[in-house]
Amino acid sequence: MLPAYYEYYNPVKILSGRQALDNIPYELETLGCRRPIIITDKGIVEAGLIKIVLDSWAGSDLVVGALYDETPPDSSNVVVNRVAEIYRSCGCDSIVAVGGGSVLDTAKGVNIVITEETDDLMKFVGAERLRKKMRPFIAVPTTSGTGSEVTMVAVIAHTETKCKMAFTSHMLFPDVAVLDPRMTMTVPPQITAATGMDALTHAVEAFSCLQKNPLSDGYAFKAVDLIRQYLVRAVENGKDEEARMGMANASLLAGCAFSNSMVGIVHAIGHACGGVCGVPHGVAMAILLPWGMEYNMKHCAVYYAELLLALAGPDVYVATPPEQRALEAVKTVRQLNSTLNRLTGMPVTLREAGVKREQLKEIARTAQDDGALIFNREEAGFEDILRILEASY
Ligand SMILES: NC(=O)c1ccc[n+]([C@@H]2O[C@H](COP(=O)([O-])OP(=O)(O)OC[C@H]3O[C@@H](n4cnc5c(N)ncnc54)[C@H](O)[C@@H]3O)[C@@H](O)[C@H]2O)c1
Ligand SMILES: [Fe+2]
Repeated sequence: MLPAYYEYYNPVKILSGRQALDNIPYELETLGCRRPIIITDKGIVEAGLIKIVLDSWAGSDLVVGALYDETPPDSSNVVVNRVAEIYRSCGCDSIVAVGGGSVLDTAKGVNIVITEETDDLMKFVGAERLRKKMRPFIAVPTTSGTGSEVTMVAVIAHTETKCKMAFTSHMLFPDVAVLDPRMTMTVPPQITAATGMDALTHAVEAFSCLQKNPLSDGYAFKAVDLIRQYLVRAVENGKDEEARMGMANASLLAGCAFSNSMVGIVHAIGHACGGVCGVPHGVAMAILLPWGMEYNMKHCAVYYAELLLALAGPDVYVATPPEQRALEAVKTVRQLNSTLNRLTGMPVTLREAGVKREQLKEIARTAQDDGALIFNREEAGFEDILRILEASY
């Protein structure tokens, strides 16, 4: 059934394929810029990716205004404020972010601080607080998971409260997203697995949450279809270019889906696991997704049943009686987790991910206040969340 009313907006230009990086100088010139700051992290520099980016710009008029490579995993307001200072002092005119979600979200935070001419990101936390058009921003994802290159969301930790704060605004979309296979071939197997499960969670939650609509459904469904075909392949052989591009596109499609329809309880609890215990975002998603689906079964079974076609493929879909398809979808997610665990050692319980049992209550308290819960079809209070956490332990 169509929603009575919905909106969809996504202005990001997408470049996907071999040598896509070579077009960044042209894109920046079109945006009227030639002195970008490059924001990245140490792992990406060590994997040789910044060298590939810089080599691909040889012969262009671009001048690298500054290079910041100290983004930590799950960036914070303190880091964002520091990078914004570097941007200003080096006279940069645009941002090129090369990295996973932590880097891309840091770049979004920096863009807020620069554009809003503030020295404190925290003044802009929440939804639609930004009024000014942002500085030109090119996003080059090096993981296939967050979809941050096409979303209007930045998730940034608050150093003092340990909360992961969401910034959402139509101003936050990057101008251009660049998917180049050379950027994801070096992702280690366990990070490939966990980030892929993040993309899957975006798609499943976007397809079943309160704000779903026909456009987000189309993106989410195709994302799941690509994840079925390519996630295990990309984990088994990181140099499989077709699988890497399949996952890069899956992640982008899932980003287009959830940026518009939003996510749900799995993200609410997962953000809290990241904030309170430092569980990597994708690992938290993998662990919590089947339990979150089970919790939502009463109102979402019809959507999970539909998704089984993309999740398990046509043969399984046809062979499964309609009333069992939703449960079969949960089973398929569990099987995928076990395969990824066997191939990479990716944790499949919170205990394996290093969470202490006595931390579960604090996680539940933090999750209760997470904005993602608003879009979940099933309501959830402290006790419900605690039960999901105990089941996932
Ligand atoms: N903005 C959004 O819409 C959105 C959505 C979901 C998650 N997030 C956020 O994104 C963050 C997680 O991002 P992530 O999962 O991409 O991980 P990440 O950015 O934290 O990167 C994980 C690790 O992988 C390494 N790495 C990344 N790419 C590599 C490559 N090509 N080769 C070798 N090593 C590489 C990095 O150096 C880092 O050590 C969390 O903070 C999460 O909250 C944001
Ligand atoms: Fe996510």
